Amino acid sequence: MTNCTRLFLTFGYFFRNYSLNCTAATNYSTLSRNMSSMNALVSNKVALITGASSGIGEATAKSLAQSGVKVCLAARRQGRLQTIKNQIMAAGGLAYQYALDVTDLTQFQSVVEDIENNVGPIDILINNAGVMYYTHMKNVMVSDWDRTIDVNCRGVTNGISCVLPGMVRRNTGHIVNMSSDAGRRGFPGLAVYSGTKFFVEGLSQGLRHEVKDHNIRVTCIQPGDCATEIVNYTIDNDAAREYGTAGTGKILNPEDVANAILYAVMQPGHVAVNEVLVEPRQIPI
Ligand SMILES: NC(=O)c1ccc[n+]([C@@H]2O[C@H](COP(=O)([O-])OP(=O)(O)OC[C@H]3O[C@@H](n4cnc5c(N)ncnc54)[C@H](OP(=O)(O)O)[C@@H]3O)[C@@H](O)[C@H]2O)c1
Repeated sequence: MTNCTRLFLTFGYFFRNYSLNCTAATNYSTLSRNMSSMNALVSNKVALITGASSGIGEATAKSLAQSGVKVCLAARRQGRLQTIKNQIMAAGGLAYQYALDVTDLTQFQSVVEDIENNVGPIDILINNAGVMYYTHMKNVMVSDWDRTIDVNCRGVTNGISCVLPGMVRRNTGHIVNMSSDAGRRGFPGLAVYSGTKFFVEGLSQGLRHEVKDHNIRVTCIQPGDCATEIVNYTIDNDAAREYGTAGTGKILNPEDVANAILYAVMQPGHVAVNEVLVEPRQIPI
């Protein structure tokens, strides 16, 4: 494996089946005054989190809910969302559940309409839903490439199209786009995926300039390898063998990335966290 390979543990993840009840109880009882005043910056806000049914989206939803955010969980797997919603509610948070395929603009529009009518105006959109398939370009896995472009690019523009007019009208908002360290550098085996994350970066940079005077912030989160289910869907075995094998060093947990998102959305109004590159210490880009 070359040192420019994006190291990844393809197999053998052990997902922590943690109890949000315990985490919430501990966190609530140890909140410092500082933390309370930071929470005040997001408490009662409404956040729509796409791809909330697993991994980084799930961890982010739980972490925002602990800070008092009303979290709207969106994804296709409703059973998973139901469980996560129940865990959040049991810990004293507020969560709502929506069936959403981010590539379907009409569905996205009706989810946003439902939230705005029944929960409140969306203050924070977390465009997190994404797919990643290891592919060798020479193997021409066109359907994987198309799916990656549809979800990772069109899913993000769909989300922005649904919330931005309302944010501009209300003169407030925060759009958090899930990029990647692959949005800063192309990785072999992930050429199309890297391309979609470069798209997210370019889109976010242009958008940020356009909306700054509407009091809207745009943040790109750029994680490195993180232990989620995203690697389980690769079907190009050549590419998985060559690029998706175990590297050395501990990779990120979804909660590590959720912390970066929490940091970005908790800043006072004059501060914009435009990008956060969060990497496993032992695997820098
Ligand atoms: N894990 C990493 O190493 C890593 C590193 C950098 C960036 N990221 C980014 O982090 C984001 C989250 O990924 P993850 O690592 O947490 O993987 P994950 O656990 O597989 O989560 C992906 C989420 O996206 C959702 N999703 C996929 N296609 C969708 C669609 N068409 N419509 C709606 N939701 C869809 C999935 O939900 P349903 O299947 O239920 O719809 C799931 O909730 C992605 O944007 C990914 O590119 C991950």
